[in-house]
Amino acid sequence: MKKLKKRIIRIKSEEETRALGFLIAKDIEAGDVIALLGDLGTGKTALTRYIAKGLGVTENINSPTFTIVKEYRSGRLPLYHYDVYKLGDGNDLLDIGAEEYLEGDGVCIIEWADIVADVLPDDAIIIKLEYGDKESERIVTIERR
Ligand SMILES: Nc1ncnc2c1ncn2[C@@H]1O[C@H](COP(=O)(O)OP(=O)(O)OP(=O)(O)O)[C@@H](O)[C@H]1O
Ligand SMILES: [Mg+2]
Repeated sequence: MKKLKKRIIRIKSEEETRALGFLIAKDIEAGDVIALLGDLGTGKTALTRYIAKGLGVTENINSPTFTIVKEYRSGRLPLYHYDVYKLGDGNDLLDIGAEEYLEGDGVCIIEWADIVADVLPDDAIIIKLEYGDKESERIVTIERR
């Protein structure tokens, strides 16, 4: 993704999260790493699902909590969707062979990325999701690491 300035976006509905996911999908390039931060249920998997749809992934995207990573190859770029909630730190991520993907041919999206922050590339795109005042509101902060 080129020319990324820090942006704070106030989202009012899941439909807007969908629109954001599609915009991100248009811009991302091979080798991009998207680090998703945010509490339980803020929409990390939902946003990943919409980015995947925008990339043209046809499979259903479910949270890879138990498998740590799932690969999807039906889109414009290979997508590696991580959920590192169960890992202790970045070394655990390298132990499962993630290095190849972090530098690779596809796009990595990592839920709970703060846990593995020590091994993320310097140019990772950080997307933080926070709850807003109303049920479907979210405050989304996007910046380059
Ligand atoms: N604006 C919104 N954007 C995204 N999701 C929303 C929004 N409003 C409501 N939701 C709902 O919030 C929930 C988000 O769940 P999701 O599993 O994506 O969160 P998560 O951050 O991945 O959680 P976990 O920490 O368990 O991995 C979904 O049920 C979704 O329908
Ligand atoms: Mg999730």
